[in-house]
Amino acid sequence: MKITVQQGSAQSFPTEALVVNLFEGVGSPGGATGAVDKAMNGRISALIASGDIRGKLGEVTVLYPEGGVAAKRVIVVGLGKQEEFGLEAIRHAAGAAAQKIRSLGLTSFATVVHGSGAGGIAPEDAAQALVEGSILSLYTFTRHKTVVEEPTTPIEEMVLIEFDAGKIPAMQAGARAGQIIADSVSFVRDLVNEPANITTPAALAGKAQAMARDLGLRCQVLEREDMQSLGMGALLGVSQGSEEPPKLIILEYQPDAGLPTIALVGKALTFDSGGISLKPSEDMHKMKGDMAGGAAVMGVLWAAAMLRLPFHLVGIIPATENMPSGKALKPGDIVTSLSGKTIEVQNTDAEGRLVLADALTYAGRFQPAAIVDLATLTGACVVALGNITTGLMSTDDRLASQLEAAGQRSGERVWRLPLFKEYGEQLKSDVADLCNVGGRPAGAITAAYFLSQFVGDFPWAHLDIAGTYWTDKPAKPYQSKGATGVGVRLLMDWLRRWEGA
Ligand code: BES
Ligand code: ZN
Ligand code: ZN
Repeated sequence: MKITVQQGSAQSFPTEALVVNLFEGVGSPGGATGAVDKAMNGRISALIASGDIRGKLGEVTVLYPEGGVAAKRVIVVGLGKQEEFGLEAIRHAAGAAAQKIRSLGLTSFATVVHGSGAGGIAPEDAAQALVEGSILSLYTFTRHKTVVEEPTTPIEEMVLIEFDAGKIPAMQAGARAGQIIADSVSFVRDLVNEPANITTPAALAGKAQAMARDLGLRCQVLEREDMQSLGMGALLGVSQGSEEPPKLIILEYQPDAGLPTIALVGKALTFDSGGISLKPSEDMHKMKGDMAGGAAVMGVLWAAAMLRLPFHLVGIIPATENMPSGKALKPGDIVTSLSGKTIEVQNTDAEGRLVLADALTYAGRFQPAAIVDLATLTGACVVALGNITTGLMSTDDRLASQLEAAGQRSGERVWRLPLFKEYGEQLKSDVADLCNVGGRPAGAITAAYFLSQFVGDFPWAHLDIAGTYWTDKPAKPYQSKGATGVGVRLLMDWLRRWEGA
């Protein structure tokens, strides 16, 4: 979609559809909506007075003006209550409007920038949220359907209209960032929605290499033999039951020397059957998305490179399947990790922490200023936080609060759980240095605690996205059934506002 910001007044902009807005409970609209209302002889305020338009968040009303304004259609989208307004409401409203425009079969539209100037929202942030909400609400995953039930024509052009010329450069920057970030989220959704027979570890590595070629990144893929000579017994143990060879993908973006190094580690189980500790078959298909952490890391690298962020970013993505077979790990087996620590594998379904153990140790080679990992790690995190919130566990208060703030702004909220050292007791093994499971209590925390044992002395945060990587019931227009692409918006916000470790 071509997205531009143009200076002008909404009522005189010629377009197939013009999107204006309304707060709930406002009788006579002001700003651009007010000007459009006036040009239409008060048709909008008349519909508000009659109760036909109420301004509820995401409410959409299509009007066909007879003269007065240059647009063929005027679409009034509700912004909800003024006191609840924020970037999330902008994404929601923009998404609702964009979906309406698509359902009308239109290929171009113009919109005012909801909330720019209102409630202390910067024009740049408003434009970014508007573009994110619009693009993401139009996401579909139909590439394997030979017949699409409700075919749609893609929207080719979106124009953001702003009267105040002084705000235009900031809006242009915000719109560009929003487009890159939303495209990255869509790319991640595609990767996660794609089934495991297509996104194998080798296919994921191929995608990373293609991305590296396009963007001038470094990409190194460690093969099984490389992992053997390094001594990555934990990652190798998980992969040994599978016919698909494992890959350790290392993607590096380094626009200049001397920039802070950040390591992003993403769990990439292209399929998690549970191994010999086999999962129940209900919902097992969703384990094609057990690589959502790795996909998000690829998405962040892509978006960061597109936006030329001033970082040395290292993406480390351990990619493998977890399958049962005659060669698979058995409960009780002991593996030796890259760190030298031995691990008793009492449950082969707790495999994410095994592959991450070696990836986190490997991340230390880059002497990063911070390490953040993303992983669909535990069902316990889903029990604790549901599908709304990502679990955050960290050994560094500063890093944790930066991520909490990024979660608020980006709409990908996180909630911190403690990592008190007493939790470590649950991971004691009678026969090895550590056991890979810590029993039912505090399952998300003990998993994170396990990871902490492989991080070394770097500021580190762990994001458990087991509840947030997927949705069966999208709650907002900009979400769609299946993969959510979680992580990209959160980490891009964090990086763009980075204030040092
Ligand atoms: N990939 C799963 C976690 C998961 C569950 C992700 C639900 C998304 C939705 C992980 O590998 C796993 O199976 N964890 C086990 C750990 C347990 C055996 C200690 C779990 O949470 O049940
Ligand atoms: Zn598992
Ligand atoms: Zn898993």
